[in-house]
Amino acid sequence: MSSYLLEVRNLSTRFFTNQGTLHAVEDVSFNIRAGEIMGLVGESGSGKSVTGFSILGLIDKPGKITSGEIIFKGQDLSKLSPKELRHIQGNRIAMVFQDPMMTLNPVLRISEQMIEALQAHEKINYSNARNRARDVLGATGVPSPESRLDAYPHQLSGGMRQRVALAIAMLNKPDLIIADEPTTALDVSIQSQILAEVQGLVRASNMALIWITHDLSVVAGIADRLSVMYAGRIVENGGISEVLDNPRHPYTSGLIGSLPGNSAPGTRLQQIRGLAPNMFNPPKGCTFASRCDFATAECHNQPELMGTHAHAFRCFNPVGNPALTEQEIKP
Ligand SMILES: Nc1ncnc2c1ncn2[C@@H]1O[C@H](COP(=O)(O)OP(=O)(O)OP(=O)(O)O)[C@@H](O)[C@H]1O
Ligand SMILES: [Mg+2]
Repeated sequence: MSSYLLEVRNLSTRFFTNQGTLHAVEDVSFNIRAGEIMGLVGESGSGKSVTGFSILGLIDKPGKITSGEIIFKGQDLSKLSPKELRHIQGNRIAMVFQDPMMTLNPVLRISEQMIEALQAHEKINYSNARNRARDVLGATGVPSPESRLDAYPHQLSGGMRQRVALAIAMLNKPDLIIADEPTTALDVSIQSQILAEVQGLVRASNMALIWITHDLSVVAGIADRLSVMYAGRIVENGGISEVLDNPRHPYTSGLIGSLPGNSAPGTRLQQIRGLAPNMFNPPKGCTFASRCDFATAECHNQPELMGTHAHAFRCFNPVGNPALTEQEIKP
């Protein structure tokens, strides 16, 4: 069997709407091993959440997975029946939704929701379940977890709700957690802190984690791997230091350049000019070409993702130091 826990191969997901076909996710491929943390980074609308939903089989009409394979522990999830998928959801793969209220029931206390989640999967009595719930809450950084157990979701701040949703996702020690960062602009430093806390739990139980964010700086110091999405496609992925130290795609390089720490004090932050393409009618060639300083005639074609698991990118005119990457991608 493959050494990967999850292999996403050439996944495409589209929405067939009244306004036309929206190409939300196009030809997305990546692999993740047990115990690894992968940051999935991209701007709003780039297809991060739809990628997560697709892995979990949660794409509903008018959406559809139009091609690709999602191999989880050797089994293609895209071929399973709804019943088989439900068993894997919440048991082996858990998702923390961008809106924590999609996970949390507003009329139940946190304790009831967590105990119910535990008892749905194993025989455990009330007081043991309550203790486990409290410990997991505490480990995700919820202060005074014992008293928070008795709270209702609306009594908690956005960051606390996200922590509770993460705690629920981790209760049954799934093999993979897909955590979508809340849109309600939480402080970047709070996000990094939550991720750092979750990292400890993930490592201790050998769980794999996909952390979805629009902000590269949240995952930069914590993830093992980084996948950068742009207009429905992964434009670059690899080990975190391979990508951050030697970005090859001009979009990734622009993202790194626009991080606050990367410009001299007093200078303006670098910005990537232009707008993302219309996903109802994406260009045939490289979707970044119209914004790219390095675009050539070749970019009217669609570049494939080239390279290896260690470092791959989708670009005809990569930036950076090719010698470095060639060393890295030698088998
Ligand atoms: N149910 C749906 N029906 C139609 N289009 C959808 C639906 N869900 C998502 N989309 C579209 O798919 C594209 C990708 O959306 P997605 O939610 O994955 O973006 P995202 O990267 O998660 O963005 P954000 O950072 O804002 O959460 C967007 O153009 C979005 O409008
Ligand atoms: Mg999203």
